[in-house]
Amino acid sequence: MLNFKKKKYSIINLDAITLLKKIPDNSIDIIVTDPAYSGMNNHLKLGKGRIIGKYKDKGEKGKWFKEFVDTEENYSIFLSECFRVLKEKSHIFIMFDSYSLLSLGSLVRKYFPVKNIIVWDKAIIGMGHYFRRQSEFILFSSKGKKPISNRSTNDVWSIKRIVRSKYPTQKPVELFYKMIFVSKLKNQRNLTVCDPFLGSGSAAIAALKLNCNFIGGDISKKAIAISKKRIDTFLKKKVDILEKKKIKK
Ligand SMILES: C[S@@+](CC[C@H](N)C(=O)[O-])C[C@H]1O[C@@H](n2cnc3c(N)ncnc32)[C@H](O)[C@@H]1O
Repeated sequence: MLNFKKKKYSIINLDAITLLKKIPDNSIDIIVTDPAYSGMNNHLKLGKGRIIGKYKDKGEKGKWFKEFVDTEENYSIFLSECFRVLKEKSHIFIMFDSYSLLSLGSLVRKYFPVKNIIVWDKAIIGMGHYFRRQSEFILFSSKGKKPISNRSTNDVWSIKRIVRSKYPTQKPVELFYKMIFVSKLKNQRNLTVCDPFLGSGSAAIAALKLNCNFIGGDISKKAIAISKKRIDTFLKKKVDILEKKKIKK
């Protein structure tokens, strides 16, 4: 089992399920995560497999990065591990594109009571065969009863997506910041946030900005290297090297 409790952050190069299996029961306060679902890409096969932006190095076999095999069986194991590692009275935010929301979203209900589907309005129009996409979705659930810190928060979050991101599908820190901010109650100290699909480390930066500890993983060595550099620079210089934007509070 991993002993991450005394560290400000731990970043590990592992498959999401393997990482979760190394985390003790009831030890995580908030999971925020943005899995690389294989379903959406296999379904759409847009252009030359480009998801967004222009990136110098394509990853393996023409894909930007390895995708999580999102069969019902694999996704169920992922969800049951998330449930096991979360403390009683905790929250989980799982991101979905529209395709995966319809194919996998209902499975979340078998493990967690889903409280909301939050719409992330990316403010900038994207690709799409019919209507062009400008939104993604976040399933918000709890383990046990835990309120949120601000009851006047609505379920449509308008946060500009990152254009010309350094890492494919890099999400704005502000998006994860909002998830953690609403989950962290006033009297809560030393919370641990987990993201097993770390990518460029946006969730880690958000957690550290909110004084939480962080544990994250990614199957890609490159993602781990990028995140480590980003987090270390942030902790030393308070500068986010992948995003200069200030967060509106
Ligand atoms: C959508 S991206 C996450 C982007 C991230 N939220 C950010 O803001 O940069 C998904 C990530 O999952 C990773 N990934 C794919 N399959 C995985 C697996 N089985 N276990 C862990 N990570 C995986 C990919 O390498 C990729 O970095």
